[in-house]
Amino acid sequence: MFNSQVVSGLEKHETPFYYYDIAGLTANVRACEEASSKYNFHVHFAMKANFNRRVLDVIQTAGFGADCVSGGEVKKALESGFSGKSIVFAGVGKSDAEINLALDNDIFCFNVESVQELEIINELAEKKGKRASVAIRINPNVDAHTHHYITTGLDENKFGINSWDLPKVIDTLKASKNLEFVGIHFHVGSQITDMNVFKSLCVKVNEMQQWFEERGVAIKVLNVGGGLGVDYHHPDQNVVVDFESYFKIFNDFLDVKPHQEVHFELGRALVAQSASLITRVLYLKHGIKKNFAIVDAGMTELMRPALYQAYHKIENISDLAFSKELKSYDVVGPICESSDCFAKEIELPELSRGDLLAIRTAGAYGEVMASAYNLRPSIRSVYSDEI
Ligand code: LLP
Repeated sequence: MFNSQVVSGLEKHETPFYYYDIAGLTANVRACEEASSKYNFHVHFAMKANFNRRVLDVIQTAGFGADCVSGGEVKKALESGFSGKSIVFAGVGKSDAEINLALDNDIFCFNVESVQELEIINELAEKKGKRASVAIRINPNVDAHTHHYITTGLDENKFGINSWDLPKVIDTLKASKNLEFVGIHFHVGSQITDMNVFKSLCVKVNEMQQWFEERGVAIKVLNVGGGLGVDYHHPDQNVVVDFESYFKIFNDFLDVKPHQEVHFELGRALVAQSASLITRVLYLKHGIKKNFAIVDAGMTELMRPALYQAYHKIENISDLAFSKELKSYDVVGPICESSDCFAKEIELPELSRGDLLAIRTAGAYGEVMASAYNLRPSIRSVYSDEI
């Protein structure tokens, strides 16, 4: 991603900022489109991973739909050119105003997370004289083997409807004239790198659809969510994700009937490698045991390391040739929190004040999770085709 020409282009911008590799993003999105269309699978982009306008443009142009989790995301998807019919709306706590907004724009479907939510959508749709399409998010109790903060499909998680509530779901669907049942929805977690997790998910989905069909409820859409992980350790070798193997698992293990559609909600895998957080070294503090590199970005710009102890590769892009000796550093931000640390004891070519660092694989859950804590200004973005 970085060469001396790119770095001299980046030097002109005030740090910190997100640097987007638009060509890399486009290649990755295209690879996903090609691999999914081979099986006639439909992809909705999980906008929560990144709603930067340039990113959405690339994704929308590829023909993907949008997976939204708030009224704000539904609005932004519409403004970015996604049609109402290409939007799915998930989330455990949809407000009446958000449901009404989605109804007004005739979205493809609501992914519903409780029996009470079904009743409310039915009521609100009735007031508008509409029929709302709904899919039921089922908690499959499949362990995603990922960080516990980003596991979502276990019985103890707040997401989805547990199996013991499903008879009630069927009764409610039958009694609700303003609901149209389209299918079942699952999402087991994020940053999943063990492909066996997706095989287990397929087995669960097959069981569940059989359960519904035995009760005379036809399923048109099988939505298996997102969760495909990326390689945070080798960003340059993995600009394009192995979507082929991922989709093949669902083709091989999911029991898809001829009339059914299979939907995916990928976020991270589409965008993670497309951005780096670029930050400048402000100060160096040499301790007895440790060297601290204090940089001008903090947990306010990229929260993942502080929140999940997530690993992001860091490079000294002011010394691409590795001309200086390697030294060990804790790379920390300026925020008044001890957890404001991007990496501990990592080796980098010796740093000087003013060096530029690239914190890699920051395109997913990076810019979107930025905060104003400590009254920090909004984070800027710079694009590869504009430097
Ligand atoms: N569908 C649903 C229902 C979801 O909850 C999520 C993510 C996705 C799709 C997209 O998952 P992906 O393909 O991106 O793994 N902030 C955390 C990740 C939170 C994921 C939340 N749900 C992080 O920085 O790792």
